[in-house]
Amino acid sequence: MTHAELSAIDACVFDAYGTLFDVGSAAKRCADALGAKADALAAQWRTSQLQYTWLRSLMGRHADFWQVTGEALDFAMDALGIADAALKKRLMDLYLELSAYPDAAVVLAALRRAKRPAAILSNGTPKMLAAAVKSAGLGALLDPVLSVEEVGLYKPHPRVYQLAVDRLGIKPDHICFVSSNGWDVAGASAFGFKAVWVNRAGAKTERLPARPITQINRLDELSALLGI
Ligand code: LAC
Repeated sequence: MTHAELSAIDACVFDAYGTLFDVGSAAKRCADALGAKADALAAQWRTSQLQYTWLRSLMGRHADFWQVTGEALDFAMDALGIADAALKKRLMDLYLELSAYPDAAVVLAALRRAKRPAAILSNGTPKMLAAAVKSAGLGALLDPVLSVEEVGLYKPHPRVYQLAVDRLGIKPDHICFVSSNGWDVAGASAFGFKAVWVNRAGAKTERLPARPITQINRLDELSALLGI
């Protein structure tokens, strides 16, 4: 059944990493080299990557997401006692071809059939996003693919979410913003989007000033909420 707050939605905007693309897949594919440290490395890498985006935005010292991702990986490898330049390069190369979650193509195809625009709004650089979208075979289903690089700040700064409003020409309350990151749906909701949290990991709700209108476990549950 259509969610009451989603009845007037004209477009969906998706977060990329963790929502459409499985950020853990790079470390998983290096399990041969990482052994028992694979899960810990993936977790520390992601945590540092996000922290660095917030910290750099606060410090007024923007660097693009490719640099931040590399620096976060340097920290994570250091923290786990891994010194291996070739492995770092292998992990970074894999970040350009992360696996997409299987439910991503399902919901994007449903949106296409329903003639609703589906966009990406991500911290990733244009080059990183183009590579991930291409490698996942989702290019025909996503337009536009928007990067925070256009504003030089990271989520959850309101100017980042405004980018989607400006490019789509659709008012915030007619846009459904979809992310697996609790802090990202809080930021999107505070901005004025109708935010849906894809809570894949069964995480607890973030105690932040705004909350998503609802949560789902998998992306393909979005079709029913939108009534498409
Ligand atoms: C992104 C990060 C937040 O894609 O996952 O913007």
